[in-house]
Amino acid sequence: MTGNQGKLLEAKHAFSPFGFNVEQFLIDGKVPEIIEPQCETLDDVADAKISQGLQLLKEIGKEKDALLVEDSGLFIESLGGFPGVYSAYVLDKIGCEGILKIMDDVNRKASFQASARFWDGTKVHKGNGICPGNIIHSIRGENGFGYDPIFVPLDYLEFSTDGLTFGEVKIDMKENFSHRKKALDDILLSLKNVIM
Ligand code: IMP
Repeated sequence: MTGNQGKLLEAKHAFSPFGFNVEQFLIDGKVPEIIEPQCETLDDVADAKISQGLQLLKEIGKEKDALLVEDSGLFIESLGGFPGVYSAYVLDKIGCEGILKIMDDVNRKASFQASARFWDGTKVHKGNGICPGNIIHSIRGENGFGYDPIFVPLDYLEFSTDGLTFGEVKIDMKENFSHRKKALDDILLSLKNVIM
């Protein structure tokens, strides 16, 4: 349940290998409107999204279908975790340029974080993921979305972007580090007992 095609693609890549047919949740051809409450944590926002989604599934008589929701954001260490749960709003108001202007010059540490919820038709599974990295000093790259052009991930397992931002690498490279992919993998792990 998202209007973001980037999120949808990552969900497809993560779930399709396990036999799921991942589709965008639409009602009458439209992304259903949900209220994203002002919460302190991504977990609280994800909980609010899944309960609204379940209500919608009930209203259309499809509560036995599976439903996936996710909430994510950029957490900048020197800004006390800002923009965090307000990431979408802040991006809309001041953009990546605005973030670069208010950033500390020395401490550039930041992380993308994601909290996902999956309704399997009978119960809700939870997943969380973090992608640590650094905010660079300029905007670089056209790929991805949101804060991707100012974020360079730390190396993870055998993967490195060699100093490139998420905006400068292809989606399959980004997915090796992705906070969202880690949250979805967390859910797949919890689902293991149900699908295997
Ligand atoms: P929401 O989860 O739709 O409420 O919004 C999350 C916001 O965080 C997005 O609008 C982006 O601004 C930012 N964000 C989340 N994940 C990513 C990512 O993978 N790359 C870049 N920005 C992201």
